[in-house]
Amino acid sequence: MNLTTIILAAGKGTRMRSQLPKVLHHIAEKPLLKHVHDTAIQLENNTIHIVIGHGAELVKKNLANLQVNWVEQTQQLGTGHAVQQVGNQISDESIALVLYGDVPLLKIETLQLLLSKINEKTLALLTVNLQNPTGYGRIVRDNFGKVLRIVEEKDATETEKQITEGNTGILAVQGKALKKWLSQLGNNNAQGEYYLTDIIALAVADGFEIATSSPQNEDEVLGVNDKLQLAHLERVYQLQQAQNLMRQGVTLRDPNRFDLRGSLEIGQDVEIDVNVIFEGKNQIGNNVKIGANCLIKNATIGDDVIILANCVIENAEVGANSRIGPFARLRPETVLATDTHIGNFVEIKKSVIGQGSKVNHLSYIGDSLVGKKVNIGAGTITCNYDGANKFQTIIEDGAFIGSDTQLVAPVTVGKNATIGAGSTITKDTPDDQLTLSRSKQLSVPHWQRPVKKEKL
Ligand code: UD1
Ligand code: CA
Repeated sequence: MNLTTIILAAGKGTRMRSQLPKVLHHIAEKPLLKHVHDTAIQLENNTIHIVIGHGAELVKKNLANLQVNWVEQTQQLGTGHAVQQVGNQISDESIALVLYGDVPLLKIETLQLLLSKINEKTLALLTVNLQNPTGYGRIVRDNFGKVLRIVEEKDATETEKQITEGNTGILAVQGKALKKWLSQLGNNNAQGEYYLTDIIALAVADGFEIATSSPQNEDEVLGVNDKLQLAHLERVYQLQQAQNLMRQGVTLRDPNRFDLRGSLEIGQDVEIDVNVIFEGKNQIGNNVKIGANCLIKNATIGDDVIILANCVIENAEVGANSRIGPFARLRPETVLATDTHIGNFVEIKKSVIGQGSKVNHLSYIGDSLVGKKVNIGAGTITCNYDGANKFQTIIEDGAFIGSDTQLVAPVTVGKNATIGAGSTITKDTPDDQLTLSRSKQLSVPHWQRPVKKEKL
């Protein structure tokens, strides 16, 4: 079966109170419209059309890499009018499926179930029973339960408003029939709009059966109209992801305090404490422990790694059996070999740290190549920047850098070299020797502390 999917996304979203078109607002760092697209794309033989209007250029620009046909609806005259814009691009033989760009959590299984209802003379309609159907179009059925039409809330009588079966807006039907009914729509209603929902009565008049199905969960068909609903759906989505990970065996201390804004490949026996956020693409090995309040983005973390609380890791690789934090920051292009220790208040940028090396306290290591079994003392700084250009620091295997050392790049510290504490190193230092650059200690006899002068 060939599918023509039409995603409606032209509306303004006034209640978002934002300059940004509604469908570009994010759930888990991904635009609402992209969520809908990414679900639709999973259906086979599917051509996707997206109807845009408000902020059309911005929507196209933000989602330029989608393989879809963009259709413009310059004036928003209703959902029926929006589908009309796709016009003859809906092929007669295909099944047309209408989705909404602001209903992001719809599941593929729900769409498959809906599409399975399609027959030659059937229109498939996704409906939902709601505790509070306010705002929704209502499904009007006859005494035998047969669907007759949809009435919009603003056009409904008091009796019709009592109906709790709501229209999700999502439907599927043969393209040829849809196009015929679209051409028959009028706008003689409370809102003066061309309602897509009016095609239900037209289908019934043409002898079509209206087959309904419902989503597993109401959240799937909830739309985003304001920031409160956006926040609600973000939490629904995050909880779903957390539950998926727990099913895979991940231990989450609190699934309600977990955020995945991207993808996460994860090994066995991983423990994640509260308020950990993952962004981008991440890969995590086995037996990894991640402490509270970490932000981890585009990272590869090896087996048996311990990340203590409050670390920020971005575009970095952490070798197996390493220990990071608490309060460490790994910036882009950091590569830690196995068995490394990166301690508190340490910042590493664009550097390779060799196997078994330690940077345990209060240091900045940037643009550096650090060998194996190096010990970098507290307060060591690589001075990699002269205000205009950046330079490299090389620290060879087995070196010991005393506390509070400045390594002024470009500079190389030789193999097994020792640098005395408090040194400012501006020239390469030889292997195996102690190098220090500080004045000799001096004591001044009879020196007296200044005293405060008495006020007259
Ligand atoms: C619509 C349905 C209602 C259903 C509800 C579910 C109609 C007439 N009503 O009402 O039965 O219960 O959705 O949420 O269809 N859009 C356009 N162009 C337009 C108008 C709307 O692209 O000219 C898009 C919007 O961007 C949005 C979607 O269509 O994504 C729905 O529009 P909205 O105005 O929210 O419809 P509702 O009045 O909520
Ligand atoms: Ca709506």
